[in-house]
Amino acid sequence: MMRAVLCLVVIALACDGISSLLLSGREYGRLRNTAPAISWYSRIRRLSRPTHRIIDPTEDCFLVTSEEGELFFKSPSDEPSVCGIYMIAEPDKRIQVTFNYLDVPCDNGGLVAWIDGWELNGQVWPADAWDDDRVIESCDRRPQRKLVSRQNAALIQYRVPAQGKGFAVTIRHLKNARPCNVMLFGAEGVYTLRNHGETSNCSVIGVSPAVVRIIDLNVGQAVKNRNPLEIETGTIHHCTKRGLPDYVEIGGASGLDHTKMEVLDTVCGLDSNEGRRPAFIACEDTVARLISSGRFYNSVTLAFAPLPLEDIEHADLICGMNDL
Ligand SMILES: *[C@@H]1O[C@H](CO)[C@@H](O)[C@H](O)[C@H]1NC(C)=O
Repeated sequence: MMRAVLCLVVIALACDGISSLLLSGREYGRLRNTAPAISWYSRIRRLSRPTHRIIDPTEDCFLVTSEEGELFFKSPSDEPSVCGIYMIAEPDKRIQVTFNYLDVPCDNGGLVAWIDGWELNGQVWPADAWDDDRVIESCDRRPQRKLVSRQNAALIQYRVPAQGKGFAVTIRHLKNARPCNVMLFGAEGVYTLRNHGETSNCSVIGVSPAVVRIIDLNVGQAVKNRNPLEIETGTIHHCTKRGLPDYVEIGGASGLDHTKMEVLDTVCGLDSNEGRRPAFIACEDTVARLISSGRFYNSVTLAFAPLPLEDIEHADLICGMNDL
């Protein structure tokens, strides 16, 4: 099981909550949540084991859950506040949501949205694989089919300004044979990114500052349809400057949009030596991206650990410093 989903490190997110439902950009501005800006952390709560639960609107407006089960929401008032159920599963899982019932009048902006990814403070993840199919909005009628995410995190955002109205969902975690984008909540764990010989950009994002260490690297070396030569090149830095097409970027981002990440290091090569120096990333989110041209079989194994508070000031990368 995912340990301590509600990590203290969330404090470092310094979020002021969901700013809007993820609607078209046109509508975005006028849907600002007027609720006072209380920190995200103070308003999230971990779901306990029982898999049958009623959302308490006063406590659970920003709910993060790694559990499967059934959730019910019944609006306590006519307030048009925006809330979210942030679902996360193990890296090799997808999230499936079934709306068992949905009774949300469309009047006054009543809306329930399924989002195949996460949205926070106007930023979405995974941003570089985003398309319109990732958002499904409903009111009045429930989505008939089961909704399945492409990665291990998904979101239900809702605004039910009608007392007594609401919805019920069942959350399940399904196997994902080839995860590409992966979220590590609390930035803890070891994860291997692979391209399976395909042209792709895949990433791991840790939702907090983190220490990242490359444990194993095989990027831009194993040419397809050829016997592996297995020559240890060691870790090659500045791969893009050398014109090497496949590489790993390590860095951080101020928010969920990893396409806006600040890159600390770019590496490639074949290196199975574990003794590399870790990178200390003091950013809201810590990101590793594997860029693959499709000419090689790539893999990189990364260990993420929370960044100790005392290491923040001498971190290798502190996001936002270039803006000062
Ligand atoms: C993958 O990332 C590279 C470098 O950031 C970018 O040039 C390319 O367009 C991306 N490809 C896809 C399919 O997103």
